[in-house]
Amino acid sequence: MARNVYIFDTTLRDGEQTPGVSLNVQEKLEIAKQLQSLGVDVIEAGFPFASKGDFEAVKAIAKNIKGPVIAALARATKQDIDCAWDAIKYSDKPRIHTFIATSDIHMKYKLNMSKEEVLSRAVEMVSYAKSLGASVEFSPEDATRSQKEFLYEVLEVVIDAGADVVNIPDTVGYATPIEFGKFIMGIKENVKNIDKAIISVHCHNDLGLAVANSLAAIENGAQQIECAINGLGERAGNAALEEIVMALKTRYNYYNCKTNVVTEQITTVSNLVSHITGVHVQPNKAIVGANAFAHESGIHQHGVLNNRETYEIMTPESVGLKKSLMVLGKHSGRHAFEERLKELGYTNLSVDRINEAFQKFKDLADKKKYVSDMDIEAIVRHEVYQVPEVFTLELFQISSGNNLESTSTVKIKYKDESIKEAACGDGPVDAVFKAIEKATGIEVKLEDYSLKAIGSGKDALGEATVKIKKDDKVYVGTGISTDVIEASARALINAINKIHYEIN
Ligand code: KIV
Ligand code: ZN
Repeated sequence: MARNVYIFDTTLRDGEQTPGVSLNVQEKLEIAKQLQSLGVDVIEAGFPFASKGDFEAVKAIAKNIKGPVIAALARATKQDIDCAWDAIKYSDKPRIHTFIATSDIHMKYKLNMSKEEVLSRAVEMVSYAKSLGASVEFSPEDATRSQKEFLYEVLEVVIDAGADVVNIPDTVGYATPIEFGKFIMGIKENVKNIDKAIISVHCHNDLGLAVANSLAAIENGAQQIECAINGLGERAGNAALEEIVMALKTRYNYYNCKTNVVTEQITTVSNLVSHITGVHVQPNKAIVGANAFAHESGIHQHGVLNNRETYEIMTPESVGLKKSLMVLGKHSGRHAFEERLKELGYTNLSVDRINEAFQKFKDLADKKKYVSDMDIEAIVRHEVYQVPEVFTLELFQISSGNNLESTSTVKIKYKDESIKEAACGDGPVDAVFKAIEKATGIEVKLEDYSLKAIGSGKDALGEATVKIKKDDKVYVGTGISTDVIEASARALINAINKIHYEIN
């Protein structure tokens, strides 16, 4: 009989530790809703002690998302655990995930604790977390560089203390697949009470082996996999959820394991996470990259046309890429639009959001003959909860040329005022950004700016993403328009609205 593998999603915790990513409460909640539709078993919602914002986000997710287990991370201290519990106690399935490092290097240089101290702290904190009423997961951080005998001892005592799940992190992505498989087998064979807990693994991707290591762990008895959408996470990231899930599904004949993930939702969630975090997915990324199902060479195209299995081991439909049977344009009505949204996986949008998205679709259809699925998805992503728009773009004008200093005028609406400002810049985008900063009175440091076309053709929508820094915090803003300068201006205003929302 097929074995069930639990999918523990850590996009909102380890994934949020991706350099340059910082999510607000609404953005986290929005992603959590999609993870719920995706069918993950556990959502690690955050690290409540790390910041007030993270605490609020975990609490909001615990209150609003029912079905999956909601986990919160806590170091092995009473303060952290109390804070984690205060945030997740609203969930019907709360889990405290507590951790302490067990490798010599971490104990000596980071914790400044002896083995005995680490061991007794682990036991004490697992029992304490358990006494609060949550299920408890324990992670010996940097497990793969820990002395095995010590690791076995720690795992045994924490299971005795009540740990329901023991998670084995390859914190620095050091392990290799066969070695990691044996490592898990060693734990199974040497920890006497291991059958009283679920074995989980959490693999980092420093050597590009996170998915391979996770799969090797499954082959050797791991029942839970920690992973993140698009492989987000510290440094090179975590094991990519979509790759693990599709490997198990596509190679069911080999692994004989199943998950509860609704794989047809994968593309929608991947796009949403990429949009909200501002971290683009590389085109050749497995499963969710733009080229993952594209066939370039004539020989391949010929093969696929005759029988797609010649070069496709899974169908695009199985990860939620659908070919549209309907072409939407300016004569399409709201009903057809709503149906298309459902087919694209947007099943839980409120009427207000659908109405707003429909209006934007109509505006776009006036400019473009055909509105593609990619356009519709972009519109919806931009309708996904946005912080209140206190600043809106009313007008912008640009004067630019190769022998001309770029100048820009903008009119920004703020409450009942219309603020007009002008600025010169090094190119049209710089000029419009400077004018916006003047008009909003919010000065920012531009960390990153990118522009990509959605679909193809001269009338393709441009999607601009900006990352700006204000007081050491990074804010991501996005904007779409058929005019790339307008898309850029909207992206900056979107990020500035996030700053305004947070500081007011
Ligand atoms: O990588 C790691 O060790 C972690 C733990 C907190 C599980 O993220
Ligand atoms: Zn990690």
